[in-house]
Amino acid sequence: MGDRVRIVEVGPRDGLQNEKVPISVADRIAFIEALIGAGLEAVEVGAFVSPKAIPQMVGSDAVLRGVRHHANCELPVLVPNEKGYEASQAAGARLIAVFAAASESFSRANINCSIAESIERFKPVLVRAKADGVRVRGYVSCVLGCPYEGEIPQAAVVDVARMLWDLGCYEISLGDTIGVGTPVKARHLLRAVGGHVPMGNLAMHFHDTYGQALANLYAGMEEGCRVIDSAAGGLGGCPYAPGATGNVATEDVVYMLEGMGVATGVDLPRLVAATNVMSRLIGRPPLSRVAAALNAKVRVAK
Ligand code: HMG
Ligand code: MG
Repeated sequence: MGDRVRIVEVGPRDGLQNEKVPISVADRIAFIEALIGAGLEAVEVGAFVSPKAIPQMVGSDAVLRGVRHHANCELPVLVPNEKGYEASQAAGARLIAVFAAASESFSRANINCSIAESIERFKPVLVRAKADGVRVRGYVSCVLGCPYEGEIPQAAVVDVARMLWDLGCYEISLGDTIGVGTPVKARHLLRAVGGHVPMGNLAMHFHDTYGQALANLYAGMEEGCRVIDSAAGGLGGCPYAPGATGNVATEDVVYMLEGMGVATGVDLPRLVAATNVMSRLIGRPPLSRVAAALNAKVRVAK
């Protein structure tokens, strides 16, 4: 399986974008710094999107400016268009992520345009980013199913992934936005997309709605994928994907990988401590099974 996986922590963005309780800029910064302290090498800190669409991400500029101690950590932010790009640059972003979908209906609901229009919108963003020396990641949503259309043809996912790759994204993150995938489908998808985008430039972004995410990740790793998006405590969801729960929990991913002898650089107890603070702020226990188990162990030891 190889000995190293890169984890992209998306809790402060994908996680908090869906929370009803507003989390202050100071608390978001403290959460991100705690995640960096736990050893995460990439933490998605926010989104430069419409405040009407996602009010939870308002203040992403102040969050990005406020995070300290990130010399060894990348801080990507979501950018949907040139307006978002300009705001991200004013706040000093060095790494951005554009986001498309493999489903026309989801694209319309999420970013109010067709897939083709979204690619046209990203073109000038990629051109400007290249000129500014800013790296761009590309997301494809609904790769294993859509909340509006159900099954999505594999060819549609391959097409969008290839378009983002051809535009100049350095990494394509495949989003099972509603967590409906199962391992054999995940494996086939990775194999299909890997025929057009190098496997070393693919990432798996799996939500865990049906409890399949770890198994899907394992299947993707068997295909050679070594980048995993996850969220501390299993935070997350998308307001435009009704009923979907959070990303696979970072704690659960780290525990599985440690058990396989695969290095992540993440300190599990420190990660759980960061999750526990956020969990108190949002007022519910972490969805992560590993965080729950480690918290129970600490209570018994006391
Ligand atoms: P629109 O309404 O088509 O945009 O929204 P518009 O260009 O017509 O502008 C409408 C208004 O929005 C204007 O303001 C603009 O200034 C403003 P008004 O004149 O009405 O006051 N506006 C902006 N404001 C701030 N930042 C911007 C921006 N752009 C326009 N960048 C738009 C199109 C894309 C902006 C909107 O639909 C949007 O912001 N959508 C964001 C959706 C989102 O963030 N979804 C969650 C993230 S995606 C996700 O979670 C999936 C992922 O995790 C992978 C997976 O799990 O699959 C990544
Ligand atoms: Mg997501």
